[in-house]
Amino acid sequence: MTEKAGASIFSRGGAALPRAVSGDGAWITDATGRRYLDAAGGAIVVGIGHGRGAVAAAAAEQMGRIAYAHGSAFTADALEAWVAELGPLLPMQHPSLYPVSGGSEAAETALKMVRAYWLAQGEPDRTVVVSRWGSYHGNTLGALDLSGRRGLRKPYEPWLGRFEHVSAAYPYRAGLPGADAIGSGAEAVAELDALLARVGPGRIAAFVAEPIVGATLAAAVPPDDYWPAVSAWCAHNKVLFVADEVMTGFGRTGTWFGVNHWNVTPDLLIAAKGATSGYWPFGFVAAAQHVADPLIASGFVHGFTYSHSIPGAAVARAVLTILRDERLVEAAATRGAQLRAALVEALADEPWVGEVRGRGLLIGIELVADRSSKAPHPRSARVTERILTAAKGQEGDGLLLYSATAQANGTDGDQLVIGPPFVIGDAELDRIARGTAAAICAVREG
Ligand SMILES: Cc1ncc(COP(=O)(O)O)c(C=O)c1O
Repeated sequence: MTEKAGASIFSRGGAALPRAVSGDGAWITDATGRRYLDAAGGAIVVGIGHGRGAVAAAAAEQMGRIAYAHGSAFTADALEAWVAELGPLLPMQHPSLYPVSGGSEAAETALKMVRAYWLAQGEPDRTVVVSRWGSYHGNTLGALDLSGRRGLRKPYEPWLGRFEHVSAAYPYRAGLPGADAIGSGAEAVAELDALLARVGPGRIAAFVAEPIVGATLAAAVPPDDYWPAVSAWCAHNKVLFVADEVMTGFGRTGTWFGVNHWNVTPDLLIAAKGATSGYWPFGFVAAAQHVADPLIASGFVHGFTYSHSIPGAAVARAVLTILRDERLVEAAATRGAQLRAALVEALADEPWVGEVRGRGLLIGIELVADRSSKAPHPRSARVTERILTAAKGQEGDGLLLYSATAQANGTDGDQLVIGPPFVIGDAELDRIARGTAAAICAVREG
């Protein structure tokens, strides 16, 4: 028999990646003892900070009693207590919650709910789902098809194409060629009206969007008239509004949910990431009562082995308790304003920075080759990747940033996303601003 090679973890970084061994607050320590300031909360996930013993204890306590009972056969105290505490915080009336294992599963579940809802309503021709360019809703095929990220879609195009995409609310590049971006609510409504005219009345089932675009457009905040106009258009045309709050939910933008900034009410909402702050693979769909009731009555058939996770709900509840008791949503608002101001100051004279934007602790930096024309660097220069490497390798402690690329025209474009845990202090905030500026400068100067 020939000798079998050893197995390895499938990852882009391979064996070169440092090994994370512990976390505390906004910090991660690797196996060599090197510390990293986690200015991105991983993939904009960790809100309550690393190393929270109370969350670990809640998971252990729950698993010690019961770890698994199938969601079609049982409910559980942990699920009921979590839903009772979360319900009043959700921006919708009497929602029903369907817990799953993450954001992509939540997006897939919401899509199936939309279809099943219209079947239950006796409108089987409402099959057209609309999402936006410059968006991300997940990596499974349905969620990827919703996503308007051309580079991610490209290899799988033969399997995609079920959904319609309209322009992103992305004021910085509104009207620029190749950006698929608009800068006002009126433009959004005009585009939606044109789509409706093209597909015909009674055909559009749902509009799916991130209230503030996270990783694809680096915290692009829509103009203030955008959400009121789009949500009114959805209501007027009986189109279900699905808010993807996977990144913006649970305080990230300084309010419990992103839609709170504009007081608009989704029919369905999906969340994940911050719901358990990275302590458990978890997400959910919240369906407002007027959507959930007919769905439940119609016998909506769906499920995953790990939906309705009991330890997941116990962890989600423990995270919710910390967010509330420590007033961390308020902290995200104040720390976010402070950090954005510090970044604006530190980057004021940096010629590669086109814009610093965001809300709360979801902050984006758009990098350009030329500030006045907004021309991007060519993707081949890998500016974002080089800045991330420079920041991670900084002398002393490393600095972890998150990235987004290709926003300018589907190929070119570089952005940094900053989203630390809400527990950061003044010194850490200052370190993020100075370290980010130093990393950009180091790459620019070569
Ligand atoms: C807005 C948004 N939706 C959906 C997803 C997919 O979530 P997951 O990676 O948990 O599948 C993400 C992940 O980054 C996201 O940012």
